[in-house]
Amino acid sequence: MEHCPNTKNVFRPIFILGDSFAESDYFREQTLRFAQIVSFLIDSLNQPNEIVQRLHAMGEKHLNYSHRGFKPIFFDLFLETLEFALSGHIPSLTNMDDKQRQDAMEAWRKLGLFTTVHVKRGYVSGLMKDYYQQTANFDDWVKKRPEFHPWNES
Ligand code: HEM
Repeated sequence: MEHCPNTKNVFRPIFILGDSFAESDYFREQTLRFAQIVSFLIDSLNQPNEIVQRLHAMGEKHLNYSHRGFKPIFFDLFLETLEFALSGHIPSLTNMDDKQRQDAMEAWRKLGLFTTVHVKRGYVSGLMKDYYQQTANFDDWVKKRPEFHPWNES
């Protein structure tokens, strides 16, 4: 957050709650939602079409968060964060041998990349619809999509 203060508004309730955020209903809801998505992905590994459709719809929904400062680059940051979390967690799993840890790392990496690719596709296709449906000029459009203003930080 100190590197990118504009992200404060993206999950505003967490920012307002400060250090006690982990105890809040809002944070619990977000973590539950995240766990449900991961569980859906794992349960549906053999139905990639279904996964892609759901991820596409999820990605498109993120267009609604433009005004909170959501930017599509955050999807890539999510992937970097996942890599960080995996390299911290998987080596500490003592119930696996080296080969299993390596396989686990590879499997989570693939799932993370697949997820990110398809939420981004959903986001971009929503953005295209939005752009072509509007009749206004760029100045008007970018007021609705501040994340695409070429030089404003907001
Ligand atoms: C890459 C995988 C991601 C997936 C699969 C995902 C999925 C979702 C889903 C399913 C919702 C709930 C939409 C609804 O039905 O209301 C949501 C909400 C949201 N997501 Fe994501 N998301 C992802 C990444 C991100 C990232 C990287 C950010 C920002 C750093 C983000 C920001 C948000 C915000 C701000 C909300 C609204 C939360 C609220 O209700 O206050 N998402 N996301």
